[in-house]
Amino acid sequence: MQILLFLLFNTLHLSNKRGLLAVIQMIFAILLICFVAQRIAGDTADVSAELDPIRMRYNMPGLSTIALKRGEIVAQGASGYRRQGESTPLLVTDPINIGSCSKWMTATLAGRLVDRKILSWTTQIRECFPDFMSFSSVFRNATLEQFLAHRSGVQQSTTFYSRHYNKLIIQKGTFREIRHWVAETVLKDGPEVSPGEYLYANQGYAVAAAMIEQITGQDWESLIQEHVFTPLQMTSATIGVVYNESIPPKTPVGHDLPSTTITPIPRPLLSPTVLHNDQSAAGPGGYIACTLQDWAKFLHAHVVGVSTGYLTAETSEKLKRPFIGVEGYGLGVSAYNRTWATPGQALVHSGDIFGQNTVFWMTPSRDLIVATYANCRSEDGRTGAALDTVAGLLIGRYAYNMTRSRTAIREPIILDHLSIFPRTD
Ligand SMILES: *[C@@H]1O[C@H](CO)[C@@H](O)[C@H](O)[C@H]1NC(C)=O
Ligand SMILES: *[C@@H]1O[C@H](CO)[C@@H](O)[C@H](O)[C@H]1NC(C)=O
Ligand SMILES: *[C@@H]1O[C@H](CO)[C@@H](O)[C@H](O)[C@H]1NC(C)=O
Ligand SMILES: *[C@@H]1O[C@H](CO)[C@@H](O)[C@H](O)[C@H]1NC(C)=O
Repeated sequence: MQILLFLLFNTLHLSNKRGLLAVIQMIFAILLICFVAQRIAGDTADVSAELDPIRMRYNMPGLSTIALKRGEIVAQGASGYRRQGESTPLLVTDPINIGSCSKWMTATLAGRLVDRKILSWTTQIRECFPDFMSFSSVFRNATLEQFLAHRSGVQQSTTFYSRHYNKLIIQKGTFREIRHWVAETVLKDGPEVSPGEYLYANQGYAVAAAMIEQITGQDWESLIQEHVFTPLQMTSATIGVVYNESIPPKTPVGHDLPSTTITPIPRPLLSPTVLHNDQSAAGPGGYIACTLQDWAKFLHAHVVGVSTGYLTAETSEKLKRPFIGVEGYGLGVSAYNRTWATPGQALVHSGDIFGQNTVFWMTPSRDLIVATYANCRSEDGRTGAALDTVAGLLIGRYAYNMTRSRTAIREPIILDHLSIFPRTD
């Protein structure tokens, strides 16, 4: 109020109409800011204290979460520390590496290009690479959507790194040049499973990105900025590891929790060359970082994207469906039947990169999104248990139109993301 009066006072000497109009506009702008600020402060539950016992039970250094209901942040919180042994707290606004939850962003970028008729879901390898005759014959007619759905048969990460890591780290060039080499390398190798069969493959996303790069002439990095970060106002979003070894820590640090211990061990930072070359090979499947709040903007675009014009109805639906069948992996996201998500399905993905793990669950029909983060990877499922416990708590509270937690009333919230797909990057 004081600021309002001050501004009013300072502009009162403007006696012409334009001046008065400017004053009125300014007052409205300030009222709007006050309203928004108050609503966020008033209606957002701080669940930090509820995260503390979960974090301690599963030996996580830090844990954070956000719940978005009908586009509003209804709950968020953070517990613990950016780095084990340091007192700097993990903040709910810290940028986090979302790992494989980046995949839906790459699939969404493809959807935006499909909507613009720049390419199609069924664009084939042979249409993108002039030297396709040197690839395994099985891949020549493989489609963009098959790579995005992990149905092309292309080799999984562990195979790629065991066969080609030594050559990957000596490659020189831009992301796009090295990504092209990665795509050719895995396409020249035969498929690891029959095309059509599901095999979770990070380098399949490098191939999809390389196809898009061939057609657009732009690198995946700038396309993601143009079609995802900028239109959705994800101002914190970056590509590449957010990780700083300086003490006190400026950002969350990844950790490993070996099965025999209760003390997480900070991850050392990889060399710039390894990071550069691995971003070429794995970036489109896992290298995006942003705050929980900006990530939620992206997830919410899959609820409201048709009305905002971000996606066509057809593309928006396709990006929320399993690729084959009624339940399972789609294009960068999985869809499952859950009673708390009806009508329609629950969508889920998890991420695991640089010793940092994430998971999101959402129900588009009830317009609820829950995203959760731990700065720790564990060998024995403790991270998954911590993330699931937090997600289950918020889903139980906000998926139903009631104030008491659903879990306490009747039916358990079935999440089980750990059993959905392998947690390799
Ligand atoms: C590619 O061609 C093979 C052999 O003709 C065929 O079996 C397969 O279904 C084709 N795949 C696609 C995606 O068109
Ligand atoms: C870490 O942060 C410091 C201070 O902002 C900066 O000088 C340094 O370059 C950063 N290190 C990395 C690896 O980003
Ligand atoms: C799962 O959800 C889909 C889509 O809403 C629906 O068509 C299907 O009948 C459901 N299956 C079961 C077993 O509930
Ligand atoms: C919850 O309430 C909203 C608004 O009243 C309504 O549109 C929605 O259908 C309700 N959802 C459930 C799951 O009851």
